[in-house]
Amino acid sequence: EKGGYKHFMLKEIFEQPRAVRDTITGRLLEEQGDVFLEDMKLADEELKSVDRVCIVACGTSWHSGLVGKFLIEEMCRIPTEVDIASEFRYRNPVITDKTLLVLISQSGETADTLAALREGKSRGAKNVAICNVVDSSIARESNGVIYTHAGPEIGVASTKAFVTQLVALYLFAIRFGQARGTIDIDRGRKMIADLVHSPSLVEDALKLDPQVEKVARTYMTARDFLYLGRGTSYPIALEGALKLKEISYIHAEGYPAGEMKHGPIALIDENMPVVVLVPKDRHYEKVVSNMEEVIARGGRVIAICTEGDEEVRAKAEVTLEIPPVPEDLLPLVLSVPLQLLAYHVAVLKGTDVDQPRNLAKSVTVE
Ligand code: M6R
Repeated sequence: EKGGYKHFMLKEIFEQPRAVRDTITGRLLEEQGDVFLEDMKLADEELKSVDRVCIVACGTSWHSGLVGKFLIEEMCRIPTEVDIASEFRYRNPVITDKTLLVLISQSGETADTLAALREGKSRGAKNVAICNVVDSSIARESNGVIYTHAGPEIGVASTKAFVTQLVALYLFAIRFGQARGTIDIDRGRKMIADLVHSPSLVEDALKLDPQVEKVARTYMTARDFLYLGRGTSYPIALEGALKLKEISYIHAEGYPAGEMKHGPIALIDENMPVVVLVPKDRHYEKVVSNMEEVIARGGRVIAICTEGDEEVRAKAEVTLEIPPVPEDLLPLVLSVPLQLLAYHVAVLKGTDVDQPRNLAKSVTVE
């Protein structure tokens, strides 16, 4: 059942190219630069009337929502908020019939996310769910759904569900942008072409596995880890830290790299591994200088950078290098080495990778 892998989590990490492919298959209208989302049930007119998007989720799904905010604001030019479901539902949020609520849940059974959906619906919000489990409570109660086609996820630590949520958000942003006229055919075509290429980019990132295992051996005894990134790499830093916490029980924090100086830099000493997400994107120069600040204080930098980046190689203690990737797809590819790092540290520490202590696969009570 684990298909020859030692753990479900590892199997699920390696299934990601397939999961991404299945999530885009049958949905791309390559000629029109548009996508077809069969169960979304939001007509162009409704999409045009939306004036604000609220993405609501928990845990890893909340992290994909944070990436979704970048995609939607960039491509659709609509203000987008991302909320943790347990906060949203008790806050008296501002919701009108022009609000589009996007619920994200792998299981479709998370109690707080379901309650947030019910709350939003009762106030007249339009809504759509991004779910992995067909006919789950959230999928049934929402007006429409965009299914991720990750297949059953058994490991408690979410991996392939996360990456396919990113793909679903990407598809949604294309559709939404097309409906609103904020992206044109050429831009849509380019984005679709990138998506078609994405499974093989994820496949390439998986080749880092043996190197990541070595890195895990070097740093597994650390008591704390910091993860830093800017832009969409910030939510990926949060997700990397969550993975490590969940399965290896090492304390880890994700931070926006630019926030370092405002507090967390005080934590840095020669015992602190700092995972810096520093791909070649619009934030590159700034992140390099944040990385230098860490190094100047003795921090041990594990840099996740773009293949062949000599500058970062010369500065970091170790690099894990991903293939060059179109900027929008970076979150998909950067997630892979972080998942593998958490996995190998946990295996080396001998923790229960698939069933970490105190955690349930889906949190159906508050
Ligand atoms: O099924 P959901 O996506 O609603 O679950 C949300 C969280 O409980 C879940 O992502 C949790 O954080 C995972 N253990 C993360 O690996």
